[in-house]
Amino acid sequence: MFTSVLARSAQKPLSLLTLEPFLDILKGAWSVISPEPPAILCLGLGSPTMSPNSNIQLAFLVEMCRDLKIEHDNVSLYDPVFTAEDTALFEDLHMRVLTENRAGPRAFSRNAQHPVDVPTMCLMPHCDMELYENFLKVNWSQERLSKALLVGNRLGEYVDSNPNHKLKTRVPYLLKLAPLLECRPLPPSSAWPTAFNNTCAQFLPPNAFLAEANSEVAQHELNMSDAAVTPNDPKGRSGSEMRQNETLRIAQVKGSHQNNCDGMDDT
Ligand SMILES: C[S@@+](CC[C@H](N)C(=O)[O-])C[C@H]1O[C@@H](n2cnc3c(N)ncnc32)[C@H](O)[C@@H]1O
Repeated sequence: MFTSVLARSAQKPLSLLTLEPFLDILKGAWSVISPEPPAILCLGLGSPTMSPNSNIQLAFLVEMCRDLKIEHDNVSLYDPVFTAEDTALFEDLHMRVLTENRAGPRAFSRNAQHPVDVPTMCLMPHCDMELYENFLKVNWSQERLSKALLVGNRLGEYVDSNPNHKLKTRVPYLLKLAPLLECRPLPPSSAWPTAFNNTCAQFLPPNAFLAEANSEVAQHELNMSDAAVTPNDPKGRSGSEMRQNETLRIAQVKGSHQNNCDGMDDT
């Protein structure tokens, strides 16, 4: 399998030994989420036939499948830069290439819809902050986030290195979730220093709840929608008041729902 991954881009042979510490960390983190093998959603891989980092990330993905006994037809990938050669490679590997962004007409949109309905390892190596944000927004419920292991840039680093007002405006979900996540960093690799740097396995631990974060995220959405068209209200309330009532009601329901009925979808 590795020969086929690497032959197409003529990278140096992969020493499986150097990946073992990575695999140990991912297996340990996954065991907190589920005893079953995960499905894999891989976003932002880049082009494995053009980019050495993407190539080695794919090789790692293949090795992870072997080690965790994940069937390749449970692996879905999407990146708008995939070439025909990349797609042929994924087909050889029997992996599923998502043919569209599930977001609408703009292929490069960051608003992709990738809901996590089954326990899933989400491999998003070195993606943009906004892509993580969108993934979190789409999956913003206790049930969905509890099923996801996010392997990608350490989200806490965005929080540490950006001003709060920028984070609140651009990535409110990431800002709220980062402090709740348990983060297990992959060790530095001398063989591939830039393919896995700043990469962590991150997940919502069983004792962490979204309820508190919800009301503040809801408030952000309210602020963002404040400039929207004001609908007519028979009781004479302003659009802002109506949205505020509705947003707070949803936040309250989410909060009590997640405290009382853990495991049920609240989206
Ligand atoms: C910084 S690159 C990372 C590439 C590679 N994983 C690496 O570590 O070098 C971010 C990748 O995200 C991809 N990307 C952008 N929008 C995306 C989307 N909506 N869905 C999936 N991938 C996307 C880009 O095409 C790009 O390949």
